[in-house]
Parts: sequence; structure tokens; C-alpha cells
Amino acid sequence: MSKIHAAITAVNGYVPDYILTNQELETMVETNDEWITTRTGIKERRILKGEGQATSDMAVPAVEGLLRKRGISAEEIDLIIFCTSTPDMPFPATANILADKIGAINAWGYDLQAACSGFIYGLTTGAQFIESGKHQKVLVVGGDKMSSIINYEDRATCIIFGDGCGAVLLEPNTEGLGVLDAILKSDGSGKEYLNIKAGGSLMPATHETVDQKLHYAFQEGKTVFKFAVTNMANVAAEIMERNQLTAADVNWLVPHQANKRIIDATAERMGLGPEKVMINIQKYGNTTSGTIPLCLWEWENQLKKGDVLILAAFGGGFTWGSVYLKWAY
Ligand code: UT7
Repeated sequence: MSKIHAAITAVNGYVPDYILTNQELETMVETNDEWITTRTGIKERRILKGEGQATSDMAVPAVEGLLRKRGISAEEIDLIIFCTSTPDMPFPATANILADKIGAINAWGYDLQAACSGFIYGLTTGAQFIESGKHQKVLVVGGDKMSSIINYEDRATCIIFGDGCGAVLLEPNTEGLGVLDAILKSDGSGKEYLNIKAGGSLMPATHETVDQKLHYAFQEGKTVFKFAVTNMANVAAEIMERNQLTAADVNWLVPHQANKRIIDATAERMGLGPEKVMINIQKYGNTTSGTIPLCLWEWENQLKKGDVLILAAFGGGFTWGSVYLKWAY
């Protein structure tokens, strides 16, 4: 029997209705549309508004739409891997909450936290449950309600992030399509430059931590940029070399959407023209674990069976990596 690969057989996404524009941000912090556009490529991002709305509430419509597209019921799902840095609660896992909300009564699941690399870590992990033959249907969800951890008085972070969620279904494929290779990396010394200082076991929540705004995301942008631009480009080039892929062989780069300048540098390193690069950062900003599945969702109609995709991400941790896959439908 030919080798089993994990193929993406359905994709879907969800973004909230509320649009936070650069113009609105100009009224909130000392910034301007020209700076944000030229430094990041972002024009607007989506924000999940309303009391009691959590990350899982974006995953529900994304996954329910995915199941409808694939024509299967939630009961058929074996495993849910929920990649997020903004779980509904510290515990239980958002994967469990999602399973309950959609009626995935036969699934087990867990959350995976790798900041902006969450989705590629989750995709690689989920693929292994398919390749082992243990599972037939694995749901990999990438979603974040970044607005829940952003200080809208901090111009270094509030202009970048947005809310959104995407999901893919993995199923076995014996035609040589699906996830073919992955390179995943991490360097915990990067924790100084991109983190949330309080709310974990190191610094549990107190009145002081709240007063000092230590529950919000902190980023030393310049340092993170330096690591991101080098490592994301290097790992994408490395996976091409390891699989003897030339730029002509690659149909699409699906990059994490952190900064258009980082995406452009990665594409250039790979030798790809802009027509082969999925970019929607201008509309959604950085949705952390959501960026890559949201791109796949948006470009789904342009993808063809057998297309070669290179996924690449860099994020807090530091974490980074790249996935090589062939589109299966
Ligand atoms: O997704 C996870 C990984 N994250 C990333 O990959 C993000 C990586 N970092 C970045 O994308 C960029 O570093 C940022 C977009 C966050 C910042 O861009 P930058 O070109 O690195 O700007 P900077 O922090 O070096 O700041 C340049 C100038 C400074 O002014 P001076 O010191 O030159 O006078 C800042 O004070 O821009 C100023 N500045 C702003 N001006 C207007 C910083 N933030 C803003 C702002 N609006 N929002």
C-alpha cells in the first residue's frame, strides 16, 4: 500500500463584522494611516465585539461551514487541535469547548500554543495522527481573539493585531498529496521580546498586575522583526532545498501575515513573484494562529489539485517553521 499522507480536504474561515480602520486608530493613539501602511501593509483589521464573545465563537461558524462544505457531520471528527494564544479560558481547552458547541461528541482534542506559528505546528502535529493510521478526520483550527489581549493605548501593538479564525480538515490520502514535509523550530530565549508577562504561574493576576497592564501583549517590534525576517525566509528556503524544489515548482507561498515587509523578504528569498504569494494582511492584520488558514480559505477557489504550497510562519517563543504540501482537491 502506498504511504498515507494527511491531505487538507476542506477549509473555511470566519472574521467578525466590525472593521477597525487605520483612520479609527488615528483617533485612539498617536499614529497615522501612512505610517501603518508603509511599515506593516495593514489598512484594517476585524474585531470581535460583544459581551461573552470568545475565540470559540469565531471557530463555530468557521467549522460548521467547513463541515457543510465537506458534507460530513461533527460526529465524524476524531480529533480537534485548536491552535490559539487566546483560549476562551486558561482551562478547559478551547478544543473541548468547541467540540461541545458543534456536537463533535466522538472527538478528543487539545489546545496548541505556539503564538503566530500555532497553525503550522498544529497542522504538522495533526498530520501525524493521520499518517499513523490512528485517525481518519482531524480538524486543525487556528484562531485568536487578539483584541482580548491588546492594549489599545499601546501604538506598538494595537495597530498590528486583529481577530479571526480558520480551520482545515485533514484526511488520509494515498495519491501522494497532502502534507509532505515540515521544518519546525523554536528558541525560548525570544520570550523577552514578545510576551504577556502576567496571568501565568510566573506572575498570577493581582490588582497590581492589572494596574500595570501586564496582561496585555508586549512586543519589542524592531528585535522581533530582525529575527522574523531572517528566520522565516531561511526556513522557507530550507524546505525548498530539502525537497529539491525550485521557484518554478512552487505554486503558492502561504505566509503568516505579521508584516508585509517580512512576507516580501520571504518571497524574494524563495525567488517567487508577487502573483504566487497570498497576502490579505491589508484587510485582517495579524490574526496570530488565524492568518494561514484564513489565506487558504480566501484563495481556495484558485487552488488546483496537485498545487505545491509552502507555508511559513514566525512568532512569539520564538517559534517558526515551514510546511510543504500538495493541495488535494
Ligand atoms: O507575528 C508575530 C511576530 N511579529 C512580527 O513579526 C512583528 C515584527 N515587527 C514589526 O513588524 C515591526 O517592528 C513593527 C511594525 C512592529 C514596527 O515597525 P518598525 O519599522 O520596526 O518601527 P520601530 O519600532 O523601529 O519604530 C520606528 C519609529 C519610531 O520613532 P523614532 O524613534 O524613529 O522617532 C517609533 O516611535 O516609528 C515610531 N512608531 C510609530 N509611529 C506611528 C512606532 N509605532 C508607531 C505607530 N505609529 N503605530
